[in-house]
Amino acid sequence: MELAEALNKEHDEKRQGEAFSISLSNTIKGKKFYIESYGCAMNFSDSEVVAAILHKEGFGSTKLFEEADLILVNTCSIREKAELTIRKRLTEFRQAKKNKPGMLIGILGCMAERLKAKLLEEEKLVDIVIGPDAYRSLPNLIKEAEGGQKGVNVLLSREETYGDISPIRLNSNGITAYVSITRGCNNMCSFCVVPFTRGRERSRSSESIINEVQSLVDIGYKEVTLLGQNVDSYYWNDETTKNNTTFAQLLEQVALVSPQLRVRFSTSHPKDITDEVLYTIAKYDNICNYIHLPVQSGSTRVLQMMNRTYTREWYKAKVDRIKEILPNCGLSTDIITGFCSETEEEHRETYSLMEYCKYDLAYMYFYSERPGTLAEKRYTDDIPETTKKRRLQEIIDLHRIHSLESMQRDVNKTFTVLIEGNSKKSADFWQGRTDHNKVVIFAKEGNLQKGDYAKVHIDRCTAGTLFGITTQ
Ligand code: SAH
Ligand code: SF4
Ligand code: F3S
Repeated sequence: MELAEALNKEHDEKRQGEAFSISLSNTIKGKKFYIESYGCAMNFSDSEVVAAILHKEGFGSTKLFEEADLILVNTCSIREKAELTIRKRLTEFRQAKKNKPGMLIGILGCMAERLKAKLLEEEKLVDIVIGPDAYRSLPNLIKEAEGGQKGVNVLLSREETYGDISPIRLNSNGITAYVSITRGCNNMCSFCVVPFTRGRERSRSSESIINEVQSLVDIGYKEVTLLGQNVDSYYWNDETTKNNTTFAQLLEQVALVSPQLRVRFSTSHPKDITDEVLYTIAKYDNICNYIHLPVQSGSTRVLQMMNRTYTREWYKAKVDRIKEILPNCGLSTDIITGFCSETEEEHRETYSLMEYCKYDLAYMYFYSERPGTLAEKRYTDDIPETTKKRRLQEIIDLHRIHSLESMQRDVNKTFTVLIEGNSKKSADFWQGRTDHNKVVIFAKEGNLQKGDYAKVHIDRCTAGTLFGITTQ
């Protein structure tokens, strides 16, 4: 397998297949839940809200789904493959239920929202169906399902942000955490199911965000990633103080919580990221010089069909602006190959745009038509899968060159690395990240601890990892 493909796969699996479970100290003896999350960081973050809701109800957790009273699957609908993986998993859980009468299975998240009661009524795969805005009703739905009724709530909300709920961190390293700042999405990218599964965009109060960040800092966390489908459109209008907060201002407020706290954010829509945000990143050392700026395609015609609202030239100018204000900024992207009617020439335009941007990291996919989306209604999914996959492989191969070059540029330089824990391969080595989000492995020396910042001189690299020695 090509290295970049391996990286891409790793990312996909991380997004789609990690099982989480927690140990709760103050739970009543009795019912246990098991939760597994698929999809984007937002889903992983939501599972932490769900864990808090269940904890309040007295549920303990287990890492073994076979012994759970309640199995929850937080699902993703972004591509067909994601849904197929989850369906397969649900049949495995269904099997476990046969051995444990009374066990309940609940489907959460985007697939629950998209398919609504279908999985429960027609396919009888689950007992509870609950959409992303309805998690507060989970305790009631559990009771209904225990009484043999159908536990379904897929109502989307214009207000729900779960702002007052303190998430329970799942499988946390105790150093890095997600903090959600907006929910939903108002952009109508024609390929995308998210506006239908997550509803209208809404921002969480800046006060609740700062409080959550402060409490994370108080218990030793050193990095937060502010999450939203489109973080740059964050906007909070406080009704009491009449103060407005933009994303740039929120970023500044979060950075000011502690100079020891690293601040990241994801995702930025190219049309919405402002100079003000770029200057705020430049102003604060603790806001990471790294921007995830999904381009999707390098062809203006395809971008127009995708309803991305920018052109190839406009995107390039945005990248130029980023490099002008933040010369050392890391840049990553998302790309889709084989969108409806994409010609070979237009595919080459994606290729050449990648040559221009030289992304440090790229998540690449072939187009998967999603029911209900604008593209499904308006266009024909006419590129054969073999062509979609061949084009995908071509851009993966190109990205492999760029990511290796990006890593090689860091050799013989010294970086500040936040130590996240032991290297997966050996407890004699630390694993951490640079400001640019690159993984660094280095030998344990001196009295450095997890959560410390170390200066590391890089002496070699692979396409995915930097290796070095600590200089302090
Ligand atoms: N809100 C983020 C992305 C959310 S989905 C943004 O606006 O960039 C993550 C990525 O999945 C997208 O950027 C896109 O590249 C990919 N994706 C979304 N829908 C897809 C589809 N129907 N087929 C293939 N890839 C898709
Ligand atoms: Fe989907 Fe576009 Fe919204 Fe991202 S910005 S979640 S790609 S509709
Ligand atoms: Fe998937 Fe929903 Fe996220 S569709 S990518 S889990 S918003």
